[in-house]
Amino acid sequence: MDIPTLCTPRLLLRPWTPEDADRLLGILQEPDILRYFPRTEPWPSEGADRYIAHHLSHWQERGCGHWAVVTPADGQVVGWNGLEFLPETGETEVAYLLSREVWGHGYATEAARAALQFGFTNCSLDKIIGLTHPENVASRRVLEKCRMALIDRQFYFGIELCRYWVEREEFFSQAKGG
Ligand SMILES: CC(C)(COP(=O)(O)OP(=O)(O)OC[C@H]1O[C@@H](n2cnc3c(N)ncnc32)[C@H](O)[C@@H]1OP(=O)(O)O)[C@@H](O)C(=O)NCCC(=O)NCCS
Repeated sequence: MDIPTLCTPRLLLRPWTPEDADRLLGILQEPDILRYFPRTEPWPSEGADRYIAHHLSHWQERGCGHWAVVTPADGQVVGWNGLEFLPETGETEVAYLLSREVWGHGYATEAARAALQFGFTNCSLDKIIGLTHPENVASRRVLEKCRMALIDRQFYFGIELCRYWVEREEFFSQAKGG
């Protein structure tokens, strides 16, 4: 499939290219960016290449995946956002990570909403989950602003995470209601 590019009011969500690896690695080296991830150690230099290759094939297998998040004014990649299928549980997760340079502008929420809309409209998903470390207040807030509901705490990737979800009908009824 041709991976789609989405335009949100302030962002471009476009397919990853191998040339983005250095920039992604730079973002992943920012202080505390991985603080709430199951693995907090810095990625090895080939980690970004592997991430990009993984998501390019995930798109082909699943019809969804992560996009590179770009600020259109300067064409700069500022992070990732998108959907990932979790084979262990059969769930699909919305995920996001942004450079500290752009935190606090509502970008993660804007991108996550676009990913949710894409998953329900283009991938026929009935439910999408969000997983976050209990202390990751910013991420929990993003999920709440997407009006995802906190369901429980479950072990994923070896650590206990808060699990949120939203179902398709709920997502679109909220979207209509504003
Ligand atoms: C999580 C992350 C993507 C949020 O990006 P962002 O673009 O700043 O998010 P938004 O601006 O859309 O929303 C963040 C919300 O959290 C709030 N917030 C941020 N830090 C907070 C804190 N320490 N305490 C309370 N609220 C906080 C913001 O005020 C905002 O809520 P508001 O709009 O109600 O004011 C960003 O912090 C990030 O990339 N972190 C590192 C990677 C990561 O943890 N990803 C999530 C993995 S589950």
